Amino acid sequence: MKKSNEPTEKELSAEAERLFEKGLGDLGYTDQDLERCARLTWKINALKKEQHAVIPAHVYQRAEIIHGVADMVGDSYMLSKLCAQSKAKRIVFCGVRFMAETAKILNPEKEVLLPALEAGCSLSESITASDVRALKAKHPGAPVVTYINTSADVKAESDVIVTSANAPQIMRKLYSKHDKIIFLPDELMGANLAKALDKKIGRDLITWKGRCIVHENFDASSVSLYRKMYPGVKILAHSECSPGLTAVVDLIGGTGDMMKFVEKTKAPSYMLVTECGLGDLARTKFPEKVFVPMCRLCPYMKATGLEQILRVMEKPSAGHRIEIPADVIAKARKPIERMFELAEDTVKL
Ligand code: 13P
Ligand code: SF4
Repeated sequence: MKKSNEPTEKELSAEAERLFEKGLGDLGYTDQDLERCARLTWKINALKKEQHAVIPAHVYQRAEIIHGVADMVGDSYMLSKLCAQSKAKRIVFCGVRFMAETAKILNPEKEVLLPALEAGCSLSESITASDVRALKAKHPGAPVVTYINTSADVKAESDVIVTSANAPQIMRKLYSKHDKIIFLPDELMGANLAKALDKKIGRDLITWKGRCIVHENFDASSVSLYRKMYPGVKILAHSECSPGLTAVVDLIGGTGDMMKFVEKTKAPSYMLVTECGLGDLARTKFPEKVFVPMCRLCPYMKATGLEQILRVMEKPSAGHRIEIPADVIAKARKPIERMFELAEDTVKL
């Protein structure tokens, strides 16, 4: 007799077939890979039902997670919105720690699990709450606008949170009331924002020295060569890339903006200058379109695999459970809610 937590041979091959149909075959998964993944996704999906759990996954996650077990897939903004509305008892967050912390801040009564402890972020780790307090003391009265890629403690010291999907729009609104804004912690995104909003760094915009270890390494030097090699190619770059690069691309924005651009335009080919997961997702979502390879892996995002998800659901250990002190949650929640209001125009400044 089969064990209740093991798929039968028939269930296993149906699950492998489902993963193939989702486009994993086109991404290079072999039959062996599909069978290995299917065994795990089948078990995770069974546990999800039993535990009333939900799995949000960022677009940079591995394709087998996105297509095999995720209930919601999106950029940082979309995932925070969806987590705020979730009715599940347990949230198993497939992304990085700051994303799981944001889910916990918005769902303090729920259990939030992070499958991989190594899933940090160089931006989040570049700044502490005491750094923010020191900046506030140096620039009294300037609102602190903080990128969502930060810890709960840093968010708790902030006035408004932004994501790559809404930073220019929210900053523009804030500049109608303030001459000077502190933007943390991404130095390159800060430089891109200063350029877009015609502001001077150091005078109108105070920035920090954080950088994304993935996006800071793309550079502009080969863009003209790519344009010659792929006539008509649309080059889209994440707003964490350097201003030297963003000056010569067709779109600068977050991962959600890039996906929308691809969906709405008709170009001979696209180059997504960002983490490799987005290209994989775009290839499965738009199989008829051509994507020129150009990406880098984020070691933090790729720290999560199906094995870690299964392990954390079967036997969550203390480190994987996101715990944030109640006073920090209460303080960090306000700037996130402010973001929702400003991004969705539900409030006047
Ligand atoms: P998005 O919000 O654009 O998905 O970006 C998250 C991130 O970590 C980019 O490196
Ligand atoms: Fe952080 Fe960069 Fe990785 Fe995004 S891609 S999680 S910003 S290190």
